[in-house]
Order: sequence, then C-alpha cells, then structure tokens
Amino acid sequence: MKILTVIGARPQFIKAAALSRILMNEHEEIIVHTGQHYDENMSDIFFNQLNIPKPKYNLNVGSGTHEYQTGKMLIEFGKIFDIENPDLVLVYGDTNSTLAGALCASKRLVPVAHVEAGLRSFNMAMPEEQNRILTDHISKYLFVPTQTAENNLKKEGIVEGVYNTGDIMCDSFKLFSSIAEEKSGILEELGIKSEYILSTIHRAENTNDLSRLKNIIEALNESKYDIVLPLHPRTKKIIENNSMELKSHIKVIEPVGYLDMLKLENNSLKIVTDSGGVQKEAYFAGKPCITMRDETEWVETVECGWNLIVGTDVEKIVDALNNFNPKSERINLFGEGDTANKIVNIISEMTK
Ligand code: UD1
Ligand code: UDP
Repeated sequence: MKILTVIGARPQFIKAAALSRILMNEHEEIIVHTGQHYDENMSDIFFNQLNIPKPKYNLNVGSGTHEYQTGKMLIEFGKIFDIENPDLVLVYGDTNSTLAGALCASKRLVPVAHVEAGLRSFNMAMPEEQNRILTDHISKYLFVPTQTAENNLKKEGIVEGVYNTGDIMCDSFKLFSSIAEEKSGILEELGIKSEYILSTIHRAENTNDLSRLKNIIEALNESKYDIVLPLHPRTKKIIENNSMELKSHIKVIEPVGYLDMLKLENNSLKIVTDSGGVQKEAYFAGKPCITMRDETEWVETVECGWNLIVGTDVEKIVDALNNFNPKSERINLFGEGDTANKIVNIISEMTK
C-alpha cells in the first residue's frame, strides 16, 4: 500500500522516528515534510540523528498565520496527491500540518490514519484543540494512546476505527534513551555539575500573552535550583523583543536535538514545561513534572500525582519548583513501547 506520511513540526519527527522504521518494511511510505519547522535544530537534526527516512517532498511552507500555513499546505498537498495518488494518509498529533494533511486527504476521499487521536484539553482557544478535533472527525483509523483518549472520542460519537495502541512517544523514548545516555555530551558541554531543573516554554497561550510569559520568567528567576532552558525560537524572539531579564542561574540554550534532550531529561531533578510531549517524557523518565498550563490532555499523569498543573501563577510555580515531589509509585500509563508494531499490524490487517 502507498502511505503518504505528513510531518512538519519537531514532535512529529520524533514520533515518525519510531513508526517509519517499521512501516517502511511492510508498505511504501512517502514522507512529506510541510516545512512548518525549518531551522536546523528544529528539523534536520532529528532526521540526521534519528535515522528518519528522507522526505520525498518538502512543501517549504515556513512560518505565518494559522490560515496562511494551513491554506498553503492544503494547496501544496493537492499537487502531491495528483502525483502520488496515495492509498492512505498518516498524520500525527495536533499541529497545523496535521490538520492540513488530513483535510486534503478527506477532500480527496483518501482514508486518514491519525496517530495520537482522541486527546482533548477542552479549551477551544488552543489551536491544537481545534486541529485535533477536526482531524479526529475526518479520520478513518484513530490510534489513541490512552483509555481517556478513547473515552473522549466515544463522547463525540466516534467509536469505529478506534484502536488503543499505547503511546508512540513511549517507543521513541525507549528506543533512544540508552543511545542518548551514551552519545550525548550535553552535560559536559554546558558544564553542568549540580542539580538542575529542565524547562521548555513554547505554547501560544503562554508566549502570545505577555503577562503569562512574564509570570513564567519571574517564577523561573526565583527558583532555588539552576534551570536549563532550551528555548524554542518563538519564545526566544518574544523574550528578546520585550527585553525580559533572566537571572544567571537560568542557562538559556538553543533548542537541542532529541538525544541531548533525552539526556537532559533523564539527568534532571524536575521538569517544568508547557509542552505536551515533554510532560509525558518526564513521566517516562520518572521526573516530577510541573506544567505551566491551565489544563492538560495528559490527565493520567496528574491523577497519579507525578504532574502538577500550576498555570502561570508565580507563587504556585515557585512553590512547585522548590518543593513538589510525587509520593506515589509510577504505574504503566502509556504502554510497553510497542505502539509502532501495533499500529503497523492494524494498518496492514485493515487494508488487506
Ligand atoms: C507548533 C504547533 C504546536 C507544537 C509545536 C511543537 C501549531 C498550531 N502549533 O507550534 O502545537 O507544540 O509546533 O514545537 O501547529 N520558528 C522559527 N524556526 C522554526 C520554526 C518556528 O524561528 O524552525 C518561529 C517562527 O517565528 C514562528 C514561530 O516560531 O512564527 C512559531 O512557529 P509555528 O510553527 O507557527 O508554531 P510552534 O509554536 O512551533
Ligand atoms: N524536544 C527536543 N529538543 C528541544 C525541546 C524539545 O528534542 O529543545 C523534544 C522533546 O523531547 C519532545 C518533543 O520535542 O520529544 C516535544 O515537542 P514540543 O515541546 O516542541 O511540542 P509539543 O509536544 O508540545 O507539541
């Protein structure tokens, strides 16, 4: 079967790294990179380090408004569909690349497979929530990572084609953690000798609202621990443009590749983030996670006590940075790291 895989943003490269290597053994996979992320350390580094097959097409869409990005991708996808005539389109997660790929397939009556389906924050102001709901409703195969995601779909009347396969990021984490431990020299490069908290900030709800971003920076400035902050280019630009000051215990670095990121996660004291993927990786790594959002899609990590939702309240963040420590044992929430195999088996079986 000819499968057209759509990727375009950092977390999608990491998910594809686990799935493509198995998918390509059984099917013809054509990878389309939308070009949503394009900096070397937001894109190429993942292909080079994680052995992701080279995309056959790059739409080079770049940055812009949501409607520009989605619209331009749609038009460019149309041209590729004309050439390739795929049997199935595979999309990941909840970015503009996800929605555009799914929408083009749906218009062309090509079945869509959505990996990481069913997640909900119940906050429609988030671009990701809009993308994931729309994508789920036009997908034929919905690979959900958790029971909660399956239940969310059921409430929206989606029951057919739903498969609980576990979380594909668990596969990536397991595949690359020991390689990262061995190969990454990031701790030495940064001269890290003491305990540190790892942080990432990039979500639109935190970066586009200056008062929220200022609160976050104020809280990080008050941490009693050192902070390592690989900064997404979106956040970097806003911090610089608004002359926000970060104290010297915060080590701001460029975005890092996945191997360095795993090394930083696995050796940290705690993780403070607004990222979806990093919340889960904190759990995989057994690190307390502090989430600077008002809600999360990964509710299981909160319910079992390893993830604390603090929004952007300065006092709550500082208190969590200095004092939050989970009391419960971790349980298996996201599967065994065999999600890629399960997904490929289902696709092969259903499309025979
Ligand atoms: C996107 C996703 C978000 C996901 C994130 C992963 C949408 C709506 N959002 O957010 O769900 O969590 O990717 O990281 O799809 N930029 C660069 N270089 C790059 C890429 C981006 O400088 O290689 C800057 C540009 O100024 C751009 C800004 O970052 O305007 C935002 O990029 P964009 O792709 O629109 O959204 P993300 O915040 O990356
Ligand atoms: N990540 C990375 N380098 C970084 C920051 C994040 O490799 O500098 C990885 C991280 O380990 C996780 C993924 O990117 O696998 C999460 O992507 P991001 O936070 O950009 O998006 P989200 O998951 O919130 O959609």
